[in-house]
Amino acid sequence: MLARAALRNLASPSARLFSSSAALQTKVAVLGAGGGIGQPLSLLLKNDPLVTSLSLYDIRGAPGVAADVSHVDTASEVNGYPADKLDQALEGVEVVVIPAGVPRKPGMTRDDLFNTNASIVRDLAAAVARVSPSAHILVISNPVNSTVPIVASTLEKAGVFDPRRVFGVTTLDVVRAQRFLAGLVESDPAKTPVTVVGGHSGATIVPLISQTAYAKAVSGEVYEKLVKRIQFGGDEVVKAKDGAGSATLSMAYAGAKFTNALLRGLNGEKGVITPTFVKSPLFADQGIDFFSSPVELGPNGVEKIHPIGPVTAEEQTLLDACLPELKANIAKGKQFVA
Ligand code: NAI
Repeated sequence: MLARAALRNLASPSARLFSSSAALQTKVAVLGAGGGIGQPLSLLLKNDPLVTSLSLYDIRGAPGVAADVSHVDTASEVNGYPADKLDQALEGVEVVVIPAGVPRKPGMTRDDLFNTNASIVRDLAAAVARVSPSAHILVISNPVNSTVPIVASTLEKAGVFDPRRVFGVTTLDVVRAQRFLAGLVESDPAKTPVTVVGGHSGATIVPLISQTAYAKAVSGEVYEKLVKRIQFGGDEVVKAKDGAGSATLSMAYAGAKFTNALLRGLNGEKGVITPTFVKSPLFADQGIDFFSSPVELGPNGVEKIHPIGPVTAEEQTLLDACLPELKANIAKGKQFVA
């Protein structure tokens, strides 16, 4: 199997960009693959040379998406599974990405989605615990601040929780921060890294602009507007889509980017560090045991949780607003499973 992967690496120049050694065989499942995020995410994962097999599952439409995506001329195999084939979809998977659930409509907060999405995510996590208990789970379904604790508690109940393998995908906040800051300072977004910490909703999203190379270039009202735009960038999309949903294409991009980062870590690449919402000791003494900060990804998933680093007084104010809201969101998720 490894020989096949090595051959594929030789054949594909982009594979060498992603991985310095022969890639492991990695089977990835997308749960919610028929949706606005799920479809483009499945396409982008089909194009990732580190993905060798894709299992696409949804309660609606996954076999069609799979048939379509399977014609893309990359080496990975693709299988689609209808509503009653969840267990089959999860067999042998190493990575499970979950964008299942309802998105926001104008005027809704992410927390308004809790009632519908909490049980969807809980039931999917219970299936992963049963069929592929050592899989890495990447949670996209909102509200991420609550759905990640729901997944963790569900796995805990089943006796298979490993904090190194459960991730809330906050990459879209990082993608937006880099794009918006680069637009302001006229730089290349790819060369404008921004660390975003906290959670994934409104005030819990805390961008650390002071740690970028452009800290001095943005101040006063420009800084305040930038922070607000990063925190509430999702609302721009919800409003523009006018009832048809929330971010799907940029989210699929962000989801594929994070999945690739994890796969590179799993493959043994060193120095893969990106913010993600994980079980974290950073603010545990304040009763907040999930938090997004730069995390080093490695062969076992979470390798090292980095501290948030130095913050300015303005950023401390943002953190002070983040923490109580995040604490309540996490508690709500845990209570739901208890
Ligand atoms: P969508 O409604 O277009 O797609 C959701 C899909 O989930 C549908 O195809 C539906 O059939 C499927 N689904 C529902 N219940 C399911 C179940 N039990 N098992 C499998 N599939 C199931 O919604 P969209 O736009 O794709 O958004 C999905 C989620 O992602 C929403 O909760 C949204 O809020 C969240 N989201 C998260 C972001 C983030 O940064 N983490 C950014 C944008 C959206």
